[in-house]
Amino acid sequence: MFSTLNRVALVTGAPAGIGLEVAKALASKLDSLIVIARRIDRLQQLSAELQSRYPSLNILVEAADLSHPEAVQSLLERLNAHDRNVDILVNNAGLGESELFEHSPWIRIRQIVELNVLAMLRLTHYCYLA
Ligand SMILES: NC(=O)c1ccc[n+]([C@@H]2O[C@H](COP(=O)([O-])OP(=O)(O)OC[C@H]3O[C@@H](n4cnc5c(N)ncnc54)[C@H](OP(=O)(O)O)[C@@H]3O)[C@@H](O)[C@H]2O)c1
Repeated sequence: MFSTLNRVALVTGAPAGIGLEVAKALASKLDSLIVIARRIDRLQQLSAELQSRYPSLNILVEAADLSHPEAVQSLLERLNAHDRNVDILVNNAGLGESELFEHSPWIRIRQIVELNVLAMLRLTHYCYLA
């Protein structure tokens, strides 16, 4: 059975929606949680809520726009500096599109690919190596 002792989870898009529920569930079971999104105020609010509920939880807040490869790279360098191995990765942050492909501006399609595909693969690759 999978032990939750000394495990670190990283959740992208943790302050809202599905990511928030996943982050809360993991916070109740693990020692360490890394939460990522663009807006630092929402991350800090989430961190404060989880910390008050789980005082021994170790929470690392990192703001990053994962649709920008340079921001992803900078995030990985910061994670490296913290020397944290990630045991559980939840690639939750992502974009959906209801518009027809041919009607979507290229910049939107590119942003979806950067976030849903490239950032997801980059983080997954990083977590295997770390
Ligand atoms: N809800 C649904 O019905 C549904 C259906 C199918 C698939 N999904 C997928 O499930 C995932 C979660 O959906 P949700 O509805 O829970 O989303 P949500 O409520 O809109 O929350 C998205 C979260 O991701 C963060 N985020 C968005 N863009 C980001 C970026 N570029 N870099 C870093 N963080 C970013 C947001 O925070 P910031 O804005 O502060 O960055 C927020 O915390 C998404 O991948 C979505 O495509 C959802």
